[in-house]
Amino acid sequence: MMLNTLLATVQDRTGMDPATLGLCSVQHAIETRRKQLDLSELEYLRLVQESSTEFVHFVNQIVVPETWFFRGGEVFTHIAEVIRQVMNSRTTPFRVLSLPCSTGEEPYSLAIALTERGVPQRLRSIDGVDLSSTAIEAARRGIYGELSFRQTTPELKSRYFRIVPGGLQLDPLIRESVQFQVGNLLDPGLLLWQKPYDLVFCRNLFIYFSPEARQRGLTVLVRLVTPGGLLAVGHAESIPATDTRFERTGPLGCFLYRRTREGIA
Ligand SMILES: C[S@@+](CC[C@H](N)C(=O)[O-])C[C@H]1O[C@@H](n2cnc3c(N)ncnc32)[C@H](O)[C@@H]1O
Repeated sequence: MMLNTLLATVQDRTGMDPATLGLCSVQHAIETRRKQLDLSELEYLRLVQESSTEFVHFVNQIVVPETWFFRGGEVFTHIAEVIRQVMNSRTTPFRVLSLPCSTGEEPYSLAIALTERGVPQRLRSIDGVDLSSTAIEAARRGIYGELSFRQTTPELKSRYFRIVPGGLQLDPLIRESVQFQVGNLLDPGLLLWQKPYDLVFCRNLFIYFSPEARQRGLTVLVRLVTPGGLLAVGHAESIPATDTRFERTGPLGCFLYRRTREGIA
């Protein structure tokens, strides 16, 4: 009973449907942590419900942070080219948000692609946001193992990474060009102080969400993407054709939508 209450809280606060995360891994997270704290299962479940710090710790254990550089490669080539083309007619930076950014490979891939095309730092601004504080800490460190490079060419790997203890660390100039912070897509106050973005990557998140959470998430995305701006989703995700706030655009393999003016007063 207590477990069901916790799972319902996770779904309500984060959007993640525990069934899509795998109940075994949720159980494993509970078991490992309660042993660490020397608590019974019931005592631990009560603690997670009552302590926000313990809830954050629990969520960090159950999220699926899997990501890698240039995941779904085509979209980075396409977007970098779009930005390069508008670069000369812009005086303000092209603003990009990666949400969820996990351990940083997604926003860093765009930063590398833009550097490769000669888009200067002053004409781009990239933010990365994720629910998991451990993922954000890893993103800031910028040290990666081999699995992060499954879609990276050897040339880019040797140009932008150097061997350090624990893996390959990304060039400091690229690291400094991305600003990271912890945030929850379902938080109605998320990034309220920010101007809307020209491009939001929201890939491989809705696959873990309940249908109701997808709707809530989409409402936040409508606010975060500027009218005429772009939204990139994952290959297994789509926005219902009945939702006129976004329309399909770009090459098929990019899974891009353009924000229409629908819903703007
Ligand atoms: C599979 S990764 C996707 C990373 C990247 N976008 C990609 O496609 O490679 C999913 C990430 O979603 C994050 N996440 C889950 N629920 C979230 C929420 N409500 N708000 C923000 N991030 C969330 C998790 O912490 C995890 O890092």
